[in-house]
Amino acid sequence: EKGGYEHFMIKEIYEQPRAIRETMSSRLAKDDSHIILDELKWTKQEMAAIKKIVVVACGTAYNAGLVGKYYLESLSRIPVEVDVASEFRYRSPLVDENTLAIVVSQSGETLDTLAALKEAKRLGAKTLAITNVVGSSISREADQVIYTWAGPEIAVASTKAYTTQLVLMSMLAIYIAGLRDTISAERSRELISGLRNLPAQLHEILEDVESIKTFAQKYGFNEDVFFIGRSLDYAVALEGALKLKEISYIHAEAYAAGELKHGTLALIIEGVPVIALATQHDVYEKTLSNIKEVKARDAIVIGIAQQGDEQIKKYVDHTIFIPQADKFLAPILAVLPLQLLAYYAAVTRGCDVDKPRNLAKSVTVE
Ligand code: M6R
Repeated sequence: EKGGYEHFMIKEIYEQPRAIRETMSSRLAKDDSHIILDELKWTKQEMAAIKKIVVVACGTAYNAGLVGKYYLESLSRIPVEVDVASEFRYRSPLVDENTLAIVVSQSGETLDTLAALKEAKRLGAKTLAITNVVGSSISREADQVIYTWAGPEIAVASTKAYTTQLVLMSMLAIYIAGLRDTISAERSRELISGLRNLPAQLHEILEDVESIKTFAQKYGFNEDVFFIGRSLDYAVALEGALKLKEISYIHAEAYAAGELKHGTLALIIEGVPVIALATQHDVYEKTLSNIKEVKARDAIVIGIAQQGDEQIKKYVDHTIFIPQADKFLAPILAVLPLQLLAYYAAVTRGCDVDKPRNLAKSVTVE
């Protein structure tokens, strides 16, 4: 059932091009002019009345929500809050009938997320679930559902669910922005054709994993690893750190690169591995100066950058390139090397990759 792979996790990592293709299939207009989400029954008027979006989820799905916030705010200009489901309902959230609550859950069974969904409904919000499991509790509870078509995810560590959630979030943001007339036809077309390129680009990354494997073997016995990035790269850094902690038990922290000097820099000493994401062109120079800060403390820096970036090589010890992509879509590519890094580090350390200690695939207790 592992299809020749050693673990479900690596199988699922390799399934990502297909999972993403399935999730997009029939949802991209043939001429790239718009997104088709026939499942959604919102009218233009209803969407115009939305004053706020809250995204509620746990773990990796929460991290996907952070990327979703960026997409939704920039394209639809609606303010978005992202909340951890176990916190949401205990703080009297400011939610009413002009709020759209989006819950994200691979399994559709996470108890905290389900409870948050019920609370949002009770407060009058319109609710939408993004889930991978048809007929799951969350899919039944929400007013509307859009499915990621990732196929069953068995490994406890979520991989293909995350990337398909990102793809769906970007499509949803384009769709909502279309209803609210806040996106130009040109930008919409640009993003949709970018989405179409993703499966082939993911393949490209998966074809050459040797250098990532080597880094994982080399640094797999370090006890601390830092991930830094700005903007969308910061959201991806959080997912990279979670993945590493979860399956390799290495202590990892993700920091907004600009926050380093407000505390974390004290922990950066000689030999500490720092994974620096630098895929976002608009904050590139700023990220580079943060990379120089950690390099000056003799950290070992692994840069994740877009192909063609010759400059970064001067400042880092190793570079992993992702194929060139729109800054919005770069996270969907940039997370792959991080998933692989976590996987090979866990294998190197002899960890139980698919069933990390103390964790369950679906958390149905509070
Ligand atoms: O099924 P869900 O998406 O609701 O699960 C949420 C989290 O429990 C899950 O993403 C968890 O963080 C993963 N094990 C991370 O890899």
